[in-house]
Amino acid sequence: MKDLIQKALDTRKNAYAPYSQFAVGAALEAENGTIYTGCNVENASYGLSICAERTALVKAISEGAKKFKRLAIVADTPEAVTPCGMCRQMLMEFSPEMELILANTKGKSETVVLSKLLPRAFKLAR
Ligand code: THU
Repeated sequence: MKDLIQKALDTRKNAYAPYSQFAVGAALEAENGTIYTGCNVENASYGLSICAERTALVKAISEGAKKFKRLAIVADTPEAVTPCGMCRQMLMEFSPEMELILANTKGKSETVVLSKLLPRAFKLAR
């Protein structure tokens, strides 16, 4: 768990967040143990910005990974950071039961199961 948080912390250094000044790092561990990292990348057209979690996820999917065990997220927040709603929904698509390791830069962390953070997530059932 410490290793994954450390990878998220390292990647947080690459965050491009000149508008919010809020740097976030993520490290996503696939079922086979491969780790995909991500940081937030903002844009002058604010709405185009992407969160650290989704950066890691799209990197992983584009490399062929589909199932995930754990995701560590780190930001400089008073309590452990929690993922935004858009990221929760995107992650739910692949592994609803993955562990989210929520952490801050001061060493606080807690672990929750993704599905608990997004009850009744949208599914395309017809
Ligand atoms: N952000 C993330 O990267 N992950 C989250 O879970 C919440 C928000 C980013 C988006 C934006 O670049 C900055 O943090 C402030 O919202």
